[in-house]
Amino acid sequence: MNAIFTRRSIREYDSRPVEPEKLDRILRAGMQAPSAMNRQPWEFLVVTRPETIQTIASLSPYAKPAARAPMVLVPLVNLQVAGEKNRFWVQDLSASVQNILLQITEEGLGGCWMGIYPDESRTQALHDALHLPKQVLPFAMISIGHGLQENHWVDRYQPDKIHYETY
Ligand SMILES: Cc1cc2nc3c(=O)[nH]c(=O)nc-3n(C[C@H](O)[C@H](O)[C@H](O)COP(=O)(O)O)c2cc1C
Repeated sequence: MNAIFTRRSIREYDSRPVEPEKLDRILRAGMQAPSAMNRQPWEFLVVTRPETIQTIASLSPYAKPAARAPMVLVPLVNLQVAGEKNRFWVQDLSASVQNILLQITEEGLGGCWMGIYPDESRTQALHDALHLPKQVLPFAMISIGHGLQENHWVDRYQPDKIHYETY
């Protein structure tokens, strides 16, 4: 089965760093996503410095996986590039994050999406901790590493959620 089916949230990692060539393909996958009007409003902050990882992991009660990871990717939206009236950037960034998670799986690594935006306090705290400029917002955190658990398939197919022609 391909990465779509086997991808899981992997929250524990061994101490090995993420190989640069794998990171390159992961970031390429993130930038390959569809985006409204093809604006590609994403940017990415790659964090490996342990002090920074500990700081950003402490900003959300649900960000424990980050504290255990050798690398955290922070997908960012550049609101100037997205455009003032364009609110589709949330979907753009979501598609990019999913591409990244799938490529992480493809590379034999483990990753976990940790929600930041639209929680206002988490977004503001991460923005401040990373000293981001005003037109740039952090969207999520993605921990990446060599997982202590394997990606594996769980069956979520529910035929009763599909409606044909009418609800
Ligand atoms: C928008 C979003 C936010 C999430 N935030 C967190 C989080 O803060 N911490 C965490 O450990 N997992 C987080 N997750 C991962 C979900 O808990 C996980 O995807 C879900 O339980 C399904 O498990 P799976 O990813 O292994 O298939 C998030 C997932 C999404 C899509």
